[in-house]
Amino acid sequence: MAAHFGLDIGRSFVKVVEVDGGGKGLLKAAGSWQTPGGGIQSESETELGKLSEAIRSCVEAAKIATSNCVVSLVESQVVSRLIELPVLTDKELVAAINWEAEQYIPMPIKDVNLQYKVISRPQDASGKMSVLLLAAPKRMVAKYLNVVGAAGLKAVAFETESLALARALFRPGDPATIIVSLGAASSELVVVFGGNVLFTRSIASGGMVLTKAIMAEFNLPQNQAEEYKQTYGILEDKLSAKVANVLKPTLDILAAELLKAMEYTHTHIQGSAVSRVVICGGGAFLPGLSEFLAARTSLEVSLGDPWAYFSKEGLVTKLVGQGSIYAVATGLALRSV
Ligand SMILES: Nc1ncnc2c1ncn2[C@@H]1O[C@H](COP(=O)(O)OP(=O)(O)OP(=O)(O)O)[C@@H](O)[C@H]1O
Ligand SMILES: [Mg+2]
Repeated sequence: MAAHFGLDIGRSFVKVVEVDGGGKGLLKAAGSWQTPGGGIQSESETELGKLSEAIRSCVEAAKIATSNCVVSLVESQVVSRLIELPVLTDKELVAAINWEAEQYIPMPIKDVNLQYKVISRPQDASGKMSVLLLAAPKRMVAKYLNVVGAAGLKAVAFETESLALARALFRPGDPATIIVSLGAASSELVVVFGGNVLFTRSIASGGMVLTKAIMAEFNLPQNQAEEYKQTYGILEDKLSAKVANVLKPTLDILAAELLKAMEYTHTHIQGSAVSRVVICGGGAFLPGLSEFLAARTSLEVSLGDPWAYFSKEGLVTKLVGQGSIYAVATGLALRSV
């Protein structure tokens, strides 16, 4: 039995993934379940209760064998900063980190759960070490604990989506990469270099915005607009060009953010020119998206598959090809707690 599974409570689907022993080996179980109502963003007890039921159902349907889970936090609600400090030992860092964090985290330190990770520590004591700071509001973490607990599960750790994505989609030796995760309510850009997250940017629009644009333009109900989106996407054939024209303004914003992230990486980090883009999340299946982003950025764009090197058995063999939707949950499952 694996020590824990990965739980990604998305605004449109809950995703769960269990791997064998935490190493890159066997994909044991995976599944998704529609998120009811307002999902984790809701403040209503009743709605949050329904969310717990959905999580429970998802775990049961996927036949997950443990009740311990690592849970992802909505990226935009977590403050993450890569900071530079004089070279400190681990012990000195423990003593200094709260004081340092005060300067970078725009919330009182007593109200946040603070995590940090040393990204680089030069041998030369006169150099600078880089440390990634992550601060999640305690109130938000308490809500996740309640929802997960009411589902009969135990959250053993929390993590931002970007760290999970980097673990799931970046392999040793890969060049600097921008991961673009396209969810329902938001999209995340994650710059990964040498396995570390250098930069993240959360954009407050995702698949829902695209569907709403089609609903408004063609006066369609949501399910039909969703079908148009998934069928035509931004392909440029005669029939679909009309849909493409509705979707492009939103995707242009995404492309502009991608270019900014490339520029940022190029100017801030030596030797890390980004050479490829990996897309994932449900929105990555939008027809024509890879070609569109490749044309805008002149980079190679591919669909991320966190399960590419896993062996699969049982129920999960039915999910082959959908790994991209499970990128966050897979990264969480692969975490060594
Ligand atoms: N073939 C497709 N073409 C375009 N969009 C798609 C396709 N399949 C799914 N989607 C979109 O993907 C989104 C769901 O993806 P995903 O499960 O990654 O989101 P989520 O994790 O629930 O959301 P968030 O990360 O914002 O909380 C929906 O908006 C859906 O419309
Ligand atoms: Mg998501």
